[in-house]
Amino acid sequence: MQTLNDIPIRHFDALIIGAGGAGLRAALQLANADLSVAVVSKVYPTRSHTVAAQGGINAALANVLPDDWRWHMFDTVKGSDYLGDQDAIEFMCRAAPQAVYELEHFGIPFSRLDNGNIYQRKFGGQSQNFGGEQAARTCAAADRTGHAMLHTLYQKNIQAKTQFFNEHFAVDLLKNEQGGIQGALVFSIETGEPVIIDARSTLLSTGGVGQLFRTCTNALINTGDGLAMALRAGLPIQDMEFFQFHPTGIAGRGMLITEGARGEGGYLVNELGERFMERYAPNAKDLASRDVVSRSIYTEVKEGRGCGPDKDFVYLKLDHLGADVIKKRLPGIRDMCLTFLGIDPIEQAIPIYPTAHYTMGGIPTDIHGRVVAPARHSPEQAISGLYAAGESACVSVHGANRLGGNSLLDILVFGRAAADHMIEYLREHSYHNKFDKASLEQAIAHWKRWDNTENAADKPESVAALRDELRLVMEQHCGVFRTREILSEGVQKVKAIVARFKQAQIQDHSKVFNTARVEAFELENLGECALATIVSALHREESRGAHSRVDFDSRDDQNWMKHSLYYQGADKPEYKPVRTKPLTVDSFPPVERTY
Ligand code: FUM
Repeated sequence: MQTLNDIPIRHFDALIIGAGGAGLRAALQLANADLSVAVVSKVYPTRSHTVAAQGGINAALANVLPDDWRWHMFDTVKGSDYLGDQDAIEFMCRAAPQAVYELEHFGIPFSRLDNGNIYQRKFGGQSQNFGGEQAARTCAAADRTGHAMLHTLYQKNIQAKTQFFNEHFAVDLLKNEQGGIQGALVFSIETGEPVIIDARSTLLSTGGVGQLFRTCTNALINTGDGLAMALRAGLPIQDMEFFQFHPTGIAGRGMLITEGARGEGGYLVNELGERFMERYAPNAKDLASRDVVSRSIYTEVKEGRGCGPDKDFVYLKLDHLGADVIKKRLPGIRDMCLTFLGIDPIEQAIPIYPTAHYTMGGIPTDIHGRVVAPARHSPEQAISGLYAAGESACVSVHGANRLGGNSLLDILVFGRAAADHMIEYLREHSYHNKFDKASLEQAIAHWKRWDNTENAADKPESVAALRDELRLVMEQHCGVFRTREILSEGVQKVKAIVARFKQAQIQDHSKVFNTARVEAFELENLGECALATIVSALHREESRGAHSRVDFDSRDDQNWMKHSLYYQGADKPEYKPVRTKPLTVDSFPPVERTY
């Protein structure tokens, strides 16, 4: 086998890092175009976080009530609090029905209506323009839609002969001598051995960074690996201040109770038994957008109307829906309540509280999935050979607040769009170039970092303890409501924790399935993302979507209708890590957002 610096090299046309829905949809498109595709995933692909998506995927199919992709587009623009790029939103909403039918033809087991059509339920932020009735736009496979989607896409990839590098961890992107991206240095978690994947094109589809917060819906794997790799490659990440808190996490634990529960008719009550959402969102009520519902729950608790002995949660009531609806449409959340709370939602209300859920920011891309960054002679330039899609990307269709059901859509539409552009790119870039020496050496040095015991501190820091501290600081200083004071203090605390990473060591240097080494790399990635998130949040002095500044309590379109771009280096006091870039507003000018 060919080696470089004693590390084996494997050559591919395309490298996909991350095997969730975006990565697998892209891989399938590429493999079906007869290209050689490597998918690197730190877990077995069907354990990727897409598997946890519950409620469904949005497409204006109008199977239940009238609908139109233009309404879907308007709702998404409004949901984004006018920060989403409208060209990208239009592209996604137009493509949605085709993306869903394509998935249907791949074999996904959607729930069905009596007439055989795909079942669609109501979800938050969907229009109420049809005789006052809300659209029902979210196509569902009971409350396990992500599970159904991921398994379907994985099986199609096996059929298409995509090559999987399962349980491999991507350390860093590799540059070629021309300055483009040409694959990555990865290592096998099973053997501890490194591999250079030399690929003419690379897609980052590594998901979000929900593990930044102590209470979240996200899997342990969601540590922002792709975002941190982009930062280390000198690229910006965009709009990181916008982090979505899902209104209905299981109180105190964070696990997701799907918005589909409210879509099926569930509602929230406070300790007085009041349907309090009627006060905050008189039209949409419990199906207002997530930022609005999360803030409302938080306010109820803060003002003393929370439930339970500590008055620190509210209830989600489903017991009026009847056993049949719950068993047929919401079997997964019933299982979860029985397992983790010992209660049956057929009979009892579920204690819930907002929980960190979704990274709206990410690696900036255009609608073809090309990673873009400001350049010296143009406002923005594509990075040769590098693509991103899904939650790790920011295209930006979600802006300041994502609508439920648009995430599974985003990964399908932009996973495919990125692959389509990669196919074109590969036609024009038929050779593997030489690796840039410095980039290769940097990646190798990084890979060896956690085995290096030179200069070992007398009292080394523990990776697990640093991670716990970081997540607690982020929860306390970068939550649903923010102020300059709380954020500034948080920035100092995060910087101090990140500075201590230098003294961190792992005790186990064995090679086989050394999960301590994996967690150490993940900690570094979390640190990069924490800085990006909290520094960007301090920078944006307005309230928009999920970013609620108590000290700047309204949206400021005059000064802040723009994306933020964060670059690595927030720990350097003399350096300004946040810059801004304009967004596209083609169809819907900003107006006041009410539900
Ligand atoms: O509530 C949910 O089922 C989550 C869906 C989503 O985040 O899109």
